[in-house]
Amino acid sequence: MKIAIPKERRPYETRAAASPDSVKKFIALGVQITVEAGTGDGAFISDDAYASMGATIAVDYQSAVKDADVVLKVRRPLTSGEGDVDELTALPKGSILVGIMLPHKNIADIKLYAEAGITVFSMDLMPRITRAQTLDVLSSQSNLAGYRAVIDGAACYAGAFPMMMTAAGTIAPARVFVMGAGVAGLQAIATARRMGAIVSAIDVRPVTREQVESLGATFVALPEFATEASETAGGYAREMGEDFQRRQAALVHETLRKQDLVICTALIPGRPAPTLINDDMVRDMKPGSVIVDMAVEAGGNCTLSKEGEVVDVNGVKILGPINLPGQIAADSTPLYARNLYNFFELMIDGEKGELNIDWEDEIVTETLITRDGAVVHPDFI
Ligand code: NAI
Repeated sequence: MKIAIPKERRPYETRAAASPDSVKKFIALGVQITVEAGTGDGAFISDDAYASMGATIAVDYQSAVKDADVVLKVRRPLTSGEGDVDELTALPKGSILVGIMLPHKNIADIKLYAEAGITVFSMDLMPRITRAQTLDVLSSQSNLAGYRAVIDGAACYAGAFPMMMTAAGTIAPARVFVMGAGVAGLQAIATARRMGAIVSAIDVRPVTREQVESLGATFVALPEFATEASETAGGYAREMGEDFQRRQAALVHETLRKQDLVICTALIPGRPAPTLINDDMVRDMKPGSVIVDMAVEAGGNCTLSKEGEVVDVNGVKILGPINLPGQIAADSTPLYARNLYNFFELMIDGEKGELNIDWEDEIVTETLITRDGAVVHPDFI
């Protein structure tokens, strides 16, 4: 069995779908690995580092994927007209493609995968079950993104984070407000606390209160929100009703006036991100304060954030970062590569070095989008 790992070609993507460690582990399972030259450049992994673990280095995309049984990617392949290489058309018919496809956002591409006759797994559809925790790319990448958002926000903030008592006077600690206390939000809280800030957080899922408080932050809550109805059986947030949203907006407006840094992480899977900060709220914030809208690629939690830009509104800076995990590729790459290895470990017969997929396993059924020329995922049929 041959697995190919091509270089990522989408803008802002610095990560790779393999690390030297994952190559070594795949080879121990009896698999042949081909890595395209330059794949690890953005994560500072040399071709030699992959080769020293037993990978063959291919000079270009076509020669990397030409006889692959499986192709591992970070982002979905470029299609005709999207770049200088048509990555999709070059994939062998019948091969398996695995990556973060974000199919709800890229519905038109799904039909193209079926027409190309490839079997596609999307790692971002991984079920949130205990057994799948080691394969969960949203968790591994969001955790690092939450950390990085605080670092970037702190770098833009004009003040210091920790309380400092000096001979020249006392500096008050910065106030940080985290909106959405999922994987990214909890890491943002922990990072801001480690830096000495006073941290508060909000979420629609009641279960997050205890998690927020255990990290030493204050939970900002509407007394009437604490109902299990805000969480789905899968552990995700549900889209909330209009009345709830109006009352939450008033509470948020009041809280925002006092903040120095706001980290927005609120997402609803498969839907646009909820709007939590509107123009009026931004105008009422303190000049010099900073908003990092981590949800900007899903439409944004703040009405004024713009993808890839720093917007200045009366001295309030609003950051709309693109691909935060890609900004820490040296750490996000090994974690992503390990998630992919763990996924395949379930599907490879280590004795024979061959694929042995259990098509009934929910880890497979929930991540599988296309198979043998057909769209098979119920969300996209
Ligand atoms: P996410 O990235 O989909 O959303 C981020 C956060 O925003 C969530 O906490 C959500 O409740 C919150 N949010 C959504 N709408 C909001 C609104 N209007 N106002 C305020 N907050 C809002 O979620 P993430 O971080 O991917 O995971 C959510 C949860 O899933 C985790 O906290 C955990 O409980 C569970 N999980 C389970 C895993 C497993 O068992 N394999 C792995 C990862 C997560």
